[in-house]
Amino acid sequence: MRSSPKQPHRFKRLAVIGGLAAALSFGTVSAAAGGVQVQGPSGPDLTVGAPAATSVLLPDYDSEIVGQFDSANSVNHIRHLAVDIGPRLNGTPQEREGAEYIGGILKSYGFEVTLQSWGPVSTKRVAKVTSSDADLPGGPNWQMAASTSGKFTGDTGVKGQVVDAKTGQSDAEFPADSEGNIVLMDYSTTAAVRNTAVANAVSHGAIAVILAYPTGNSAPPSFTLTTPQPEIPVIGGGSAHSTWIRDLLAKGPLTLTIATNEYVTPMGTNVIGIRHAVGDPTGTTAPIVMVGAHIDSVLGAPGAHDDASGNGVSLEVARVLSRYPLDKELRIGGFGGEEGGLLGAKAYVNTLTAEEKARFVGEWQMDMVGTPYEPARLWALTPDGQSNYVVQEAYNAAARFGFDGLRNCRLGQSDHQAFFDVGIPSSLFIWLDYRPPASPAVCGPTGGTYVTEPQYHKPTDTMDNISPERLQTTLDVVGGAVAHNALNAVTVSALSDAGQPLAGAPVRADCGKGARNLGTTGADGQLKAVFPHVKCDFTVTVEGAVATERRVSISGDQAVKVTVDLTKPTISLTRPTDGAVYTLGKDATASYRCKDNLSGVATCVGTVRDGKSLGTSTVGFHEFTVNAADRAGNTVSQKVTYQVVYRWHAYFPETMNGKAGSAVPIKFSLDGYHGTRVFAPGYPASQPVTCDTGKPTGPAEPTRNQEHSGISYKDGQYNYVWKTDKSWSHTCRQLQLKLNDGSSHFTTIRLK
Ligand code: BES
Ligand code: ZN
Repeated sequence: MRSSPKQPHRFKRLAVIGGLAAALSFGTVSAAAGGVQVQGPSGPDLTVGAPAATSVLLPDYDSEIVGQFDSANSVNHIRHLAVDIGPRLNGTPQEREGAEYIGGILKSYGFEVTLQSWGPVSTKRVAKVTSSDADLPGGPNWQMAASTSGKFTGDTGVKGQVVDAKTGQSDAEFPADSEGNIVLMDYSTTAAVRNTAVANAVSHGAIAVILAYPTGNSAPPSFTLTTPQPEIPVIGGGSAHSTWIRDLLAKGPLTLTIATNEYVTPMGTNVIGIRHAVGDPTGTTAPIVMVGAHIDSVLGAPGAHDDASGNGVSLEVARVLSRYPLDKELRIGGFGGEEGGLLGAKAYVNTLTAEEKARFVGEWQMDMVGTPYEPARLWALTPDGQSNYVVQEAYNAAARFGFDGLRNCRLGQSDHQAFFDVGIPSSLFIWLDYRPPASPAVCGPTGGTYVTEPQYHKPTDTMDNISPERLQTTLDVVGGAVAHNALNAVTVSALSDAGQPLAGAPVRADCGKGARNLGTTGADGQLKAVFPHVKCDFTVTVEGAVATERRVSISGDQAVKVTVDLTKPTISLTRPTDGAVYTLGKDATASYRCKDNLSGVATCVGTVRDGKSLGTSTVGFHEFTVNAADRAGNTVSQKVTYQVVYRWHAYFPETMNGKAGSAVPIKFSLDGYHGTRVFAPGYPASQPVTCDTGKPTGPAEPTRNQEHSGISYKDGQYNYVWKTDKSWSHTCRQLQLKLNDGSSHFTTIRLK
């Protein structure tokens, strides 16, 4: 289900995939007046107002996969980690719960899941604060520091109403009902002041004490008291806790349960999900593509952004990729103890053998991958400030989907450092207000500076510090890069049968679900695309010629060659020859052959222009065309013109004598009656000629009785009566009889 609003770059992507201009966003649209909400359809990306596509092509796998990433799923995982589980301090049960949750999800996607325990780490003393009657801001599970000088209650804890004793420095500040309740006071950094406050609370009968920073929402400190108070839990929170409690108290009574625990030199937890490559079920040879995030958060912080967000993105990438059979090994790492000094990630890379490390394509570390804090931007930060394969692949993915906001500079401070240190290409992907040095060249040696969002490492790092839009961008860019690398890189070369690379040729692949549009070949006749472990038919089209390479098994990075037959078939047309003359009604047959040595002849058809085969039933000029096509789609045609004429017989001599002004009968036969319109338009005509040589001396002019006037038919003979002119006396004229079969006949008359 897609419900998150889209970043502008996603529109661009839609337009590219669909080839349609009218890609619209959908989701919740608020009408301006009345606040009416229109819920748009969910499901695949929609286009509205687009013309009905004639043949719908599937997108390439890069686009198909990114099109399935939905940050709403990431948000749900983040909520489970940051709200349902809550703060996940390294070495606490909550860090392990986080690992178990991530492991459970990965298992459901078919991953082989391992929980790694490593350590021990330093003793952790924490309070879990919950409420039975209030909806606690920031989440139902608050975490505070449990003073080693107070009581550790265990998970059951103590429950009571909260009273506010301000600074707790004088009796007057303690409400009358402090007895038997939980007393909230300001935390003082001065040990004596703090000690007085807690001692006063104990003397007023407090069952628990909360000391919270009045200003500066820093993480709650761990602290001691000069006078130990072993009978009650004493806990310390941040200023957000004090503000939230005081706001709740202003509205009425507030009941809290405080459970304090001391976890002595506990173990940290990593969760590693492995999805083996199809052909490498034991994981010994396949390239490894790894995504990492850290599970733990700092004391007191729900760690929604830092770094439940990273796991939310990892799990969504895992979900979508788990739908495809892959030839690369996919690893999803949830590391504990990052905040304690990259402890989990260091423990993990220590377990890798040299052979395993050599199989790594890279590690894409997601840490703080979508705060709404405005100045934050998406950065790819590397320990040495240099770009590397992992960074470059993220840039490439960003370019594929029209996002140009990714930048690269230098920073360690997250688990990518542990991978970098063992020679695995890695990068931290983070939404951060990072300020690079003036010259990018300095990113390497000195790096830049940064400002974190105000909620960073604070109790306020809650769901409010999560931007579904920015998570989506991270999914598209980083998830897009991971997906691209988890699939097989295939180079398709399009070649002509003569071995020439074919540039600009559209390439399609049908891998069982319909044809996918892979784009067009470059100047080198090549196209790069990624594929899961599949069998595909690859099709290349060039100027109407189509070549298909069938059932190609894709089982790794490989090359596919498609040869396009661009040689046209040949036609040998022996009858009719160009200019052939046939007598009306006489039997005539055409003779032609087509040949194609490469793909074979698909069609070879001879027709006259009117669609009938070679015919002699109508007089005049006819075109005879042979159309041939080979199986690749190359076509060729050859055209000849032939003539069908009447069987002509003249009953008049070539020259005769006559009298100017008289009518001269011209008799001829055409082998039967063919109507009276047997002359070509404008004929008969006559032209003055010299009597001795017959050379024309003036223009030809149509006779006065044209075409069918003056013509009659009787007993198998046509009789045309030529009316000569008186003014032609003492001249010679040539009579021109052009028939509608295209033939011409002549006689010359000497006029007295
Ligand atoms: N998510 C931070 C990394 C971070 C935060 C990088 C802000 C840049 C800006 C990480 O969880 C963290 O807090 N790391 C520690 C360092 C670590 C080695 C203990 C830090 O940055 O202080
Ligand atoms: Zn972090």
